[in-house]
Amino acid sequence: IIAAFQPKSMAGKHVLLTAGPTFEPIDPVRGITNLSSGKMGYAIAEAAWEAGAHVTLISGPTALPAPYGVQCLHVQTAQQMHDAVMEAIGLQHQDAFIAVAAVADWRVANASSQKLKKNSGSDMPELKFAQNPDILTSVAALPDAPYCVGFAAESENLLVYGAAKRIKKNIPLLAGNIGHHTFGQDDNELILFDANGHHHLPRADKHTLATQLIAELAERLSQH
Ligand code: CTP
Ligand code: CA
Repeated sequence: IIAAFQPKSMAGKHVLLTAGPTFEPIDPVRGITNLSSGKMGYAIAEAAWEAGAHVTLISGPTALPAPYGVQCLHVQTAQQMHDAVMEAIGLQHQDAFIAVAAVADWRVANASSQKLKKNSGSDMPELKFAQNPDILTSVAALPDAPYCVGFAAESENLLVYGAAKRIKKNIPLLAGNIGHHTFGQDDNELILFDANGHHHLPRADKHTLATQLIAELAERLSQH
């Protein structure tokens, strides 16, 4: 009961997130995508709302319901996710941007407007790729940028790659995990990287980790 009367740690803050994978079409019935259930990003959006924030979630295709209280916009491609993020920032100053989405680094440059047909024999389609915009890097480079939090799903060398990625993206905070140990699971463990080094959020369900991450963010925003 008493907790209900305590001011919430993110009251009045605007938080924008990306979550889930992106889907890059090859033709109208096929595409390439990344492994991501969206569970971690949706849990963080929910935790931000529980902490009192106004939350906008830009989501790639997932099987998850929109978290209660969260304004949820659905997109397919990385370019659409980029445009939706920039539009949300243009409409409303955002205090924090949390990039949880597993964004496809490349889209198919020679996507077909009609379904590719399987021909007997050997003439298989040859895909050409073009690089997608880096949403997090673009947001971090904006004048008056929100406080940016990145995610990194690595398959090896997490401590080295995580620290390097935070610096390359020029962001104050990055959460790293070993991707294939967490995809689709209900729990996870995170390493948080900042300018002072890193610390570990031990294995827990994604909602618990999300609440811890939002508490950490609230603390940082209050000093920002
Ligand atoms: N990200 C993004 N837009 C992209 C690619 C990545 O916003 N086009 C964000 C992700 O949401 C994540 C962070 O950047 O928060 C790191 O993504 P990751 O794929 O690990 O980094 P990359 O710089 O793409 O490096 P890598 O070569 O390891 O894929
Ligand atoms: Ca990438």
